[in-house]
Order: sequence, then structure tokens, then C-alpha cells
Amino acid sequence: MQVQHIAVIGAGTMGSGIAQVLAQSGFNVTLLDTTQDLAEKGLDKIKSSLEKMVEKGKIDKATAMEALARIRCGSDLNLAARAELVIEAIFEEIGAKRDLFRKLDEICPPGVILASNTSSLSITEMGAATKRPEQVIGMHFFNPVPVMQLVEIIRGQRTSETTVESVKELALALGKKPIVVTESPGFVVNRLLIPMINEAIFLLQEGVASAADIDTAMMAGANHPMGPLALADLIGLDVCLAIMETLYRELGEAKYRPAPLLRKMVRAGYLGRKTGRGFYEYSTSK
Ligand code: 3HC
Repeated sequence: MQVQHIAVIGAGTMGSGIAQVLAQSGFNVTLLDTTQDLAEKGLDKIKSSLEKMVEKGKIDKATAMEALARIRCGSDLNLAARAELVIEAIFEEIGAKRDLFRKLDEICPPGVILASNTSSLSITEMGAATKRPEQVIGMHFFNPVPVMQLVEIIRGQRTSETTVESVKELALALGKKPIVVTESPGFVVNRLLIPMINEAIFLLQEGVASAADIDTAMMAGANHPMGPLALADLIGLDVCLAIMETLYRELGEAKYRPAPLLRKMVRAGYLGRKTGRGFYEYSTSK
């Protein structure tokens, strides 16, 4: 099936970033969230990201307007029925994802691929909630989506090769670099990256160095573009905790134990940039 129209479910940081990249690559996009207000907030994020790109001279105003015009937003999941492919980017909770995949399976015509942007959960489990596990796949983007090149394509236990090939083609059409991964908790990047961030939080908790010095260490000593604690704030501490919990639960090894400080920060509502406070403080406009 020739894909021209894609539905993105979840208009948060990742969903809106994915919708932006799709629209900039010429796809028509339906961006959905649970309320019209949340969907419009996602659209606002896209508008300001495109405006920044115009200001920096990366794209012209007409191109930005054209991309924006390709996006419709709303709160009715039934609008996904018109899409030829769906990308789910809701919060990291397997029960909610299973429920969503079951509904999408009823709404979307047979053959439509249902992809998940999950950062560590089981694609096989999402597929099992549908009658089309062969067309259920992981399509894992990285934050900030317009900048980061990688897309991890995750093959669940019953995902077909045709589905893998179609999604790989889509990632290439978006100008991204796809890699194909066999399902395993955290896939490749988060299995490596999030335990490193977790270890940085242990260092902070143990008073080994300040947050700023831990970050400086990894930037100046390992050439990372940003330190692990600043990166945790960018990703969202709730997301980091959810990934560590998945790794710990699924792989069952003590080395994946979430740092108690990470859990405490999440309980306090210090989730990083999105709440204005994490390991650092941010003005609300960031
Ligand atoms: N939209 C469009 N462009 C953006 C952007 C956005 N949201 N955010 C940044 N950019 C662009 C800027 O315009 C700038 O472009 P230019 O160099 O051509 O002018 C470029 O990206 C660099 O941005 P800045 O100059 O503002 O700042 P930095 O040089 O400090 O880079 C960064 C910011 C791109 C975030 C960089 O620090 C970086 O790459 N950090 C690591 C990010 C990373 O590791 N992400 C993966 C997280 S893991 C994940 O997402 C998986 C999930 O499952 C947890």
C-alpha cells in the first residue's frame, strides 16, 4: 500500500516531533490526543519548532507553512481510520498501549501497519492485543526528533518481513537512519544509554560529584554533546524511570536497579524540562 496519510497518536514531545518530521517529508498527518487541547498543544510545539527553523534559515517560510498545512489534529481516535499507517506515541504504560492497539485494530482497515514509538516495552505484547500481529512493529525515534537521525525498527515475535521492509522504507523517506532490532527490553540505544544515565544519578546521590561536574565530565572527557543528567532532563525523568523499571523487571539483574534518587525526583514531580525542574531548573518556555 502506498502510504500518504499517517496518524500519530499522542501529541507529547515525541508524538509532535514525529508528526513534524512526517509533515516536512510530505506526508499528510492526523495528530491525535485524548483531548483537543492536548492535540493543539502538540501542534503549537510543531509551529514553534518550524518557526525556529525558518529563523535559522534552514527552511523557508512557505515550506514551513506547507508542512503545517499537512497536519490535522483532534481527539477522536476514529479519525485514525483514514490513515494508511499509524504511529503510537502515548505514555509508557503497557496496559494503556495494549488497550490502544486493540482499539486501533478495530478502527483501521486490514493491512494497515500499527507502529509503536515505545522506548522499551514489548512489541510482541502490543501485537498480541490485535488480530494483525504481523503488522505490528516498533518505530523508535529519538529526542529531539527533527534532529536525531536514528530510527530503531523493532521486530516483534510475529512481525512480518514485509512490515519491517515497509517501515524501513518510511524511515529512509524521512531522511532517517534505520536499524533493525529483534525485540529485547530497551532495544539497543536505551539498553546502553539509560543505565549510563542511571549510574550518573547514583554518582550524584552518593555525593561523588555535583550534577554540573558529572555532566562536564562526560562532555569534556567522553565528547558527549550533553551530560547524562542534562540528557535525563531532556528525555524526562519519568521516561528514564519507566525504562529502568522495564530493564530491571524483564532482564532481572541487579545492575538495572533504578537509582532511588531517580524514583524520588519522579515522585516529587521533578520530571525535567517538561515540568521546569529536574536535575537543573528551566524557564517554562524551554
Ligand atoms: N527541532 C528542530 N531543531 C532542533 C530542535 C528541535 N526540537 N532542537 C535542537 N535543534 C537544532 C538546533 O536548531 C541546532 O541546529 P543548528 O546547529 O543547525 O543551528 C541543533 O539542533 C543544535 O541545537 P542547539 O544549538 O540548540 O543546542 P546543542 O548544540 O546543545 O544541541 C541537542 C542540542 C541536539 C539536543 C544536542 O545536545 C544533542 O544531540 N544531545 C543529545 C540528544 C540525545 O542523546 N537524544 C537521544 C535521547 S534518548 C531518546 O530520545 C530515546 C527515548 O526513548 C528515551
